[in-house]
Amino acid sequence: MPARSLPISPQALNEACSLLGSGGLVAIPTETVYGLAADAADARAVLRLYEAKGRPRFNPLIAHVSGPDMAARQGVFLPAARRLAEAFWPGPLTLILPAAGDCSVCDIARAGLGTIALRQPAHPGALALIAQFGRPLVAPSANRSGHVSPTEARHVEADLGERIDLILDGGPCPLGIESTILAVDGSGVRLMRPGALAREAIADVLGSDPSAAPPQDLSAPGRLKSHYAPRARLRLNASGPLPGEAWLGFGPHAPGTLSLSPAGDLAEAAMNLFSMLRRLDETHDAIAVAPIPATGLGEAINDRLERAAWQGD
Ligand code: TXA
Ligand code: MG
Repeated sequence: MPARSLPISPQALNEACSLLGSGGLVAIPTETVYGLAADAADARAVLRLYEAKGRPRFNPLIAHVSGPDMAARQGVFLPAARRLAEAFWPGPLTLILPAAGDCSVCDIARAGLGTIALRQPAHPGALALIAQFGRPLVAPSANRSGHVSPTEARHVEADLGERIDLILDGGPCPLGIESTILAVDGSGVRLMRPGALAREAIADVLGSDPSAAPPQDLSAPGRLKSHYAPRARLRLNASGPLPGEAWLGFGPHAPGTLSLSPAGDLAEAAMNLFSMLRRLDETHDAIAVAPIPATGLGEAINDRLERAAWQGD
């Protein structure tokens, strides 16, 4: 039976909390993309979550917290991490930190690593749920592993509906692309995944650009080359569609084609990226995509497009 989908309300939050407390899987809206939540301390629930997504067990999960106190019990905040959390939480930033001594996130959710990924989401429904639950929820994007991330409740239902217990429907996700991931430890700040928080905003707070993670850094097991994979073939930086190709533009576009942002706005393009890829994937075998500027949110958009287009070495 497909999972029920409920709009956010006090009753829906009560139901979600009781399902999570008994090992259930609940899809939740965040400001970035929908997440599939489980009790971070419950190894059996987390195992079920990996199975539902078809996610390799070596790929660790982000623990979502309701505030700084909950976060401080899980990870070690060096001064740079504290500054970043103060500047950008709640919001689309995930911090990978050394795990605190009494970190309650189970080993399997951390893939046995000595680090912990933490994020305080800004979505009021997600925040209320975590606060009411009283401890961290792990929540990877609520898609089958390797698929495009969901930005609407119906995307979650299509990917995972039969495998989970409840979907909290908070409408379309306002940012539409996953959080930016930074690792902060004694050796500095490294950008592990570009995302909905632009590099420029991070550099303003740090006083310098975060360093790049080495390309095959084993501490970032989720950085698979092929990810966000639609069925259709993608051709990037195209100047126009070839016969048979759908067109995904940026800026003004012809009638009957899609544009990530008719006005050429990167935030709007990020918000539309995954839902438009899903839409075109349903009707076409090939999609040509216009060039996207590489600045600001364009870094994350281009990262997702490259992974979606990757056909193998
Ligand atoms: O916006 C987001 O971040 C969404 C929403 C739901 O919060 N979540 C999300 O989770 O995108 P997921 O699991 O799809 O991506 C998390 C990434 C994975 O690439 C994983 O490998 C990495 O974070 N990660 C998690 N814990 C890590 C750790 N301890 N060390 C290195 N990478 C880690
Ligand atoms: Mg994901």
